[in-house]
Amino acid sequence: MVEVDEALAARVIELRRAIHRRPELGFEEHETAAIVERELDELQIEHRRLARTGVAGVIRGEQPGHVCALRADMDALPIGERTGLPFASEIAGKMHACGHDAHTAMLLGAARLLAAMRPQLAGTVVLIFQPAEEGPGGAQPMIDEGVLDTPKVEAIAMLHVDPRLDVGTVGITPGPVNASTDEFYLTVRGKGGHGAYPHTAVDAIPASAAIVLALQNIAARETDPLESVVVTVGTIRGGYRNNVIADEVDLSGTLRAHDLKVRDAIERRLRRIVDGIASAYNVQTELQIVHGYPPVVNDPQLAERFAEYLREHSRMAVARPAPTMGGEDFAYFAQRVPGVHARLGVRSEAAGAIHPGHSAHFRIDEAALRVGVETLVLFATGVGNGEIGL
Ligand code: NI
Repeated sequence: MVEVDEALAARVIELRRAIHRRPELGFEEHETAAIVERELDELQIEHRRLARTGVAGVIRGEQPGHVCALRADMDALPIGERTGLPFASEIAGKMHACGHDAHTAMLLGAARLLAAMRPQLAGTVVLIFQPAEEGPGGAQPMIDEGVLDTPKVEAIAMLHVDPRLDVGTVGITPGPVNASTDEFYLTVRGKGGHGAYPHTAVDAIPASAAIVLALQNIAARETDPLESVVVTVGTIRGGYRNNVIADEVDLSGTLRAHDLKVRDAIERRLRRIVDGIASAYNVQTELQIVHGYPPVVNDPQLAERFAEYLREHSRMAVARPAPTMGGEDFAYFAQRVPGVHARLGVRSEAAGAIHPGHSAHFRIDEAALRVGVETLVLFATGVGNGEIGL
């Protein structure tokens, strides 16, 4: 059992609210990183800066054991907060609407507990406070700067607040839990003209419409129905007025998958469809695909053992929520070492915590914070002493 006492729970809430008031976007997390460093200094935890605004701390237990890492993201979103909470964002147009304030505060709470356990703590715990999860991505630069190398991390875990799960619940699902997040940008070019004389022009609009419809076949007709795929066209812009043939249309969209082979197949099919329809409609096309984060795949064995360990050593409910098609750059950590992306239930009607992440009304039930601290500490102690075997 891990005991998160009242004083620690109150400290975590205080830290979370302080961070919530001062939301900072990716790679601008200067105040947040300063809070993290101040707290780690107070706990006499060695730390260093990586990836500009990222911070990594190391807690060395005095007993022999394994090395694990715990990761929290620190960045906020460009959203104007509308919760009306007394500790709401003081910065116009920026908000912690994805709970990264809670992630950072919980990891600091876990650091406090683990630091106090040093004499009996087996192994080493690396604390990763990561910038820019919402983009352009802080995980890869931290890995490039060696955050998993010194000391050599053997397993990693993270928590993300989840308004689908009730407070008191932690969700751990083996295998894929988040999707790849690739983007595409397509320009369709024809030849402009008078709307009354279509035969003298090449209309970019029907060609674009045909492309949008044909793309639906990737998920509907070309992918195994048991695989997860999203092809969304999010924007379409073109034309001038009712009686003018449009010479150019711009489209953009997102491509998502849980499996790397499926991800590659989507890209090939997209190119084939665009080329084929361009030829049929006599238009020129320019297609750009921008690769985003890979899918997050939880190590199946580590996930199962972590879930079992939580059931044995805590009173929390351990669920197995369905994977989502959202993205997370924790994927890069989990590609390098066995990793688990765990979900922390923050839903409660009483606390008004019913809105989805990225909503201007997003809130969490702060009672979840102590469950989160407990979860992180149990991962670290369980991996350290070998009970959550690797
Ligand atoms: Ni998030």
